[in-house]
Amino acid sequence: MRKILELKDYSLTYINKNADNLVYAVRNISFTIDAGDTLGVVGVSGSGKSSLAMGILGLTPENTVIKGKVLFDNRDLSNMSESDLNRLRWTEMAIVFQKSMSSLSPVHKIRTHVEDIYRVHYPKASRKEIENRFIYLLELMTLPRKVYDLYPHQLSGGMIQRVSIALSLMHQPKLLIMDEATTALDAINQGELLDEIADMSSKINLSRIVITHDMSVVAKFCNKIAVMHAGELVEMGETPNIITKPQHPHTKALLQAYPGYVT
Ligand SMILES: Nc1ncnc2c1ncn2[C@@H]1O[C@H](COP(=O)(O)OP(=O)(O)OP(=O)(O)O)[C@@H](O)[C@H]1O
Ligand SMILES: [Mg+2]
Repeated sequence: MRKILELKDYSLTYINKNADNLVYAVRNISFTIDAGDTLGVVGVSGSGKSSLAMGILGLTPENTVIKGKVLFDNRDLSNMSESDLNRLRWTEMAIVFQKSMSSLSPVHKIRTHVEDIYRVHYPKASRKEIENRFIYLLELMTLPRKVYDLYPHQLSGGMIQRVSIALSLMHQPKLLIMDEATTALDAINQGELLDEIADMSSKINLSRIVITHDMSVVAKFCNKIAVMHAGELVEMGETPNIITKPQHPHTKALLQAYPGYVT
């Protein structure tokens, strides 16, 4: 199996303004994701899941101290120039949040956003070329092509998250991080969307990290699970093992919050 992402002893600490308060958001985490994996990262609020995601992308605020290494597709991101990192960040790995679309201006159609985003890396791309690529992604996300000419406010919550995911895939990333990207949807919509993402990922060879509080989501849609608590990786393994033989009390507690998944 080809490794897509490897963290080696990775730590991320926030230092507040007067430097008298350190937040150890991620502590000495090591793990590997192979190409094609879907890793579920679970943990209670504040356990460091989003910090880990932003650390992998190298999108940490200034008040951050990083230790350890992030290796992406056999390249060490800690040695990379900011411009190379910036290119890699949006072309080879991408992130979608719970409210990704709130960053899109309501006065522009989806088309305008898509063209602007695509042209950051490919300034000479034609409108037709961009449209063709996006329509292909809309179809993968089971959305009609007319969405391309709608405004963000004309879309339902489920459509908005599908458009956000399609947008994040414009540059054909190898890794997609979804940080609570389906949490706001009702259970039926969330299940449908996650099924579609699983289908789509196998078509385009996309590896994924799914961040959520919800054990039932990772149990169903991830082949590996990492459990975080207070910045530490307390348990990680293949999904069936974690679900049926959880070792750590924090894993057991998360499973008990979704009783259908406790055996
Ligand atoms: N920019 C920041 N500066 C200082 N501390 C921060 C910053 N961002 C997050 N933290 C702190 O780091 C810790 C981990 O937060 P993080 O957002 O990574 O957790 P999380 O697991 O994603 O939580 P949630 O499930 O609520 O999204 C928390 O104690 C949080 O308050
Ligand atoms: Mg978070």
